Amino acid sequence: MVERETWTSRSGFILAAVGSAVGLGNIWRFPWMTAENGGAAFLLFYLIIIVGVGIPGLLVEHVIGRRSNSNPFGALKSLSGSDYWGYVGILAVFASLVLLSFYSVVGGWIIRYFIDSFTGAYLSNPVEHFQAINFGTSAVIFHLIFLAMTAAIVYSGVRKGIEKATKIMIPVIFVLLILLAFWAATLTGAGDGYAFYLSLDFAALRANWLDILLSAGGQALFTLSLGVGSMITYASYIGDDRSLPADGTIIAGLNTFVGVLTGFVVFPILFSSLGEAGSQGPGALFIGIASAFNALPLGSLIAIVFFGIVLIAALSSSISMLEIPVAYLADEHDVKRERGTTVLAGIIFVTGSVTALYPNIFDFVAGTLVDLLLTFGLFAFCIFVAWVLGRDAIEEFRKGTRYSTGLANSWLVLVGTVLPVFLLFTLLAGIASLLGVSVPAFGPLASNQVIAAGAVVLVVVVVSIVRSDKTLV
Ligand code: PHE
Repeated sequence: MVERETWTSRSGFILAAVGSAVGLGNIWRFPWMTAENGGAAFLLFYLIIIVGVGIPGLLVEHVIGRRSNSNPFGALKSLSGSDYWGYVGILAVFASLVLLSFYSVVGGWIIRYFIDSFTGAYLSNPVEHFQAINFGTSAVIFHLIFLAMTAAIVYSGVRKGIEKATKIMIPVIFVLLILLAFWAATLTGAGDGYAFYLSLDFAALRANWLDILLSAGGQALFTLSLGVGSMITYASYIGDDRSLPADGTIIAGLNTFVGVLTGFVVFPILFSSLGEAGSQGPGALFIGIASAFNALPLGSLIAIVFFGIVLIAALSSSISMLEIPVAYLADEHDVKRERGTTVLAGIIFVTGSVTALYPNIFDFVAGTLVDLLLTFGLFAFCIFVAWVLGRDAIEEFRKGTRYSTGLANSWLVLVGTVLPVFLLFTLLAGIASLLGVSVPAFGPLASNQVIAAGAVVLVVVVVSIVRSDKTLV
């Protein structure tokens, strides 16, 4: 048996998990989603989803990981005693490879931009530059470099690699991002940027509530690294003395803080130099921001710092993706970490090169496929925890805490009912749009619908607290 490591300290686990969570999802997608979907109104809505779906989902994975001390496959199989659940776990391991195949390509773009910031290569022609490097040989080469950096950290182990690296990376990200936010506040036009970012537009939210609900749900999973078993794997290295609910709340809180803060950097920069928010989507970071740097005092220095932060954030996430299959090979097939890491990096080099060469495949993988895999993954983990683990999950949740069963019970009821329904709905909507089936339009959101939905959740929570001596199964 290959020996299993553990984190050296509580902060080791928290920083590694924050590292997994803080990544391209926060810096690349989150500020844009907020700005486009109603600003502060969306932010409020998003925070509710993080608290209602994200944190309970995070605790689902942490409970499975610590209970089993195993990778997603071993965890589901050993805790249930059933091969079928093992297959579900294997799907998560597979999903982590798919995820890294596209993430590493974007990581490669960032290395390229980081390097080019020193020469200012893209500053005057951001659109052509992005189109020149996003797919093709250059993308393959930089994907390889990003993957090699990821593999080097994972290769060195849980303590000497992941924990040591994230202990440096996370404070660096926080400090630099805060400094950048202060600097951005001094720019002329910063106020317009804030106004765009934080406008309170409930009408936009109400009109597109369904789309926004679905994308905010997807974003909550992606940003908290849920659905592929990163958090299961990281939690498999912690001890029984830690409080999972406390740690989970800290992790989700710090992750949201980074997302919100990034908006305070990005929008003042865009508005002060371009006078508008610029292009959206994947190009936002690479075209919009990059062209903004051209017009700013100290632009190239700021560009180096900015892309440096994004690179560190992307790396601290990608290591958590690679750790899943490495743990799987070590736990299940006795493959040493060094060997497993090398073999897996070889495989991802090939699969990632495919996404780096074919834009259509990239779009499919980065969009639909990853969304479906993550949603299905978390759905299955929720069902597993609530309906298979049941009482054991409550026990695991409460270890290391002083909470009575009330909180644990409401959590379990939530993850056994509200979460699966929400995730299944997201999953079906995703499949429908993949198949091009148009779903009948839901009208604009009325306040009585919100009140009704809130009331249902409240009843579920209250009933579960009242019946706190009983569990679901
Ligand atoms: N949370 C990471 C980000 O925001 C992405 C990620 C997803 C990492 C799933 C691990 C697992 O970039």
